[in-house]
Amino acid sequence: MIIDDKENYEEIKKFLSEVEGRVDLIEVLHKTQDLFGYIPKRVVTLIAKTLDMPVSEIFGVITFYSRFSLVPTGKYSINVCMGTACYVKGANDILDAFSRELEIGVGETTDDQLFSIIETRCVGDCALAPIVNINEDVYPYFKLEDVKTLIDELRAGGKDE
Ligand code: FES
Repeated sequence: MIIDDKENYEEIKKFLSEVEGRVDLIEVLHKTQDLFGYIPKRVVTLIAKTLDMPVSEIFGVITFYSRFSLVPTGKYSINVCMGTACYVKGANDILDAFSRELEIGVGETTDDQLFSIIETRCVGDCALAPIVNINEDVYPYFKLEDVKTLIDELRAGGKDE
């Protein structure tokens, strides 16, 4: 897991002072997400001050894009597409199964920091529905019965890395 440390905060602060406010909000949010693994509230405050924007507007953008998270995400970010094509092919049951298996809700992270569950909009691969993305890996035609196997495999791999 990427830690919310002083060093990352200083790096964002430095980045914002170097661009002197001439930067796109999305670009700063991407940089923050990549550095911390999520977007800490104190960085939102810093961005608001530097870009002279209302905090509420920044939170609005963060919550609109599934790429951004306000809470630390686990090592494996399980993104279940809930777009129409995936939904009609059982995405809701898949989401529930991950939730039951990991004992966390959508937007939450397991205590061991291994898994987070995220609900996404259509990711553009509707022909492969239902789709689950875990970090950069795509799992097309996802089957409900694969939930437990996949979690077990990732848990086993997660301990070795
Ligand atoms: S609805 Fe899931 S990929 Fe389009």
